[in-house]
Amino acid sequence: MNTASTAPVTAVILVAAGSGQRLGYGMPKAKVPLGGDSILTHALRGVAAAGIARQICVALPPGDAELRAQCESFAAELQAEHRRTATSGAAVQLPAVSIVDGGASRADSVRAAVAALEPDVEAVLVHDAARALAPEAVFHRVAAALAAGAKAVIPVVPVVDTVKTVEATHDGSAGIAPEVVTGTAPREQLRSVQTPQGFELATLRRAHEAAAGFDADRAAAVTDDAMLVELLGVPVYAVRGASQSLKITTPLDLILAEGLLEGPLGARWVEG
Ligand code: CTP
Ligand code: MG
Repeated sequence: MNTASTAPVTAVILVAAGSGQRLGYGMPKAKVPLGGDSILTHALRGVAAAGIARQICVALPPGDAELRAQCESFAAELQAEHRRTATSGAAVQLPAVSIVDGGASRADSVRAAVAALEPDVEAVLVHDAARALAPEAVFHRVAAALAAGAKAVIPVVPVVDTVKTVEATHDGSAGIAPEVVTGTAPREQLRSVQTPQGFELATLRRAHEAAAGFDADRAAAVTDDAMLVELLGVPVYAVRGASQSLKITTPLDLILAEGLLEGPLGARWVEG
C-alpha cells in the first residue's frame, strides 16, 4: 500500500502498435517522421525525460524490425547517458526497456504490455506514442497523484467546443439533414482526456481482466484504460493535462506537432 511519502515502483507502458489509418501515411503511425525523428523516438524521449520509470515497456506492431531497432538504439543511448552521468555522480535511475508485440486493438496492446511488466512493479502509466510531445510536467502530475494514494488518475484539459449529442434523422426529416440534436452536454463539466493515464497495477490488471469478456461491439467502444477502471467503481482522479499532449491522429495534428517542434517555445513547453 502506498503512502503519500513513498513513490511506488513505476513502469511506463508506451502503446505504439497502431496502424495510423487516419493519418494516412501508409505506415504504422509510430514510424511517421516528425521533426527529423520518428513519432516513436519523440515519445520515448518524453518518457525517459520524465525520469519516473523503472521499466519502459513498448508495444510495437508485430514483426516491425525498424521500430524494434529504434527502441533498441534508444535503450543503448539511455545506457550510454547513464554511464556518463554515473561518473559525474549525477546518475538517475536507468529504466529497463522491453518490447512486446501489440495486439489488434489498443486494449490488447495494453494487456500484452501489462503481462510483460517486471514483478516488482506497483504502478503503471499507460501512454499513447501518438501523444509524442507530452511534457514531463504531465507525467509528474500523474505520478504525484499515484504517490498520494490514487488508484487511477488521468490528465485532462477543458473542452473548448460546445458538445451535443445527436441521432440519425429518420422518417420525414431525413431529407432535411443527416442528424438531429438530442441534447447539449454541460460544458463546464466536460474534459478532454489524454495520456499518460496512471494506475495502481493491481487495479489496471483487474480492469482489463473484466474487459476480456466483452463482445466485439463493447470491446470496440473501449477507447482508454480509465473507462475500464470506472466500470469497477474505483474513483478515477483528474489532473491537469497540456494542449501540447495532442494525440497525433490526422494530418492536421501532424502539422501542429511539427509547428510545436519548430516554434520558439520548444518541443515540450508547458502552459502555466
Ligand atoms: N495502439 C496500439 N495498438 C493498437 C491500436 C492502437 O498500440 N492495436 C496505440 C497507437 O499506436 C497509438 C495509441 O494506441 O499510440 C492511440 O491509438 P490511435 O491514435 O487510434 O492510433 P492508431 O490506431 O495507429 O491510428 P488509427 O486509429 O487512425 O488507425
Ligand atoms: Mg486507432
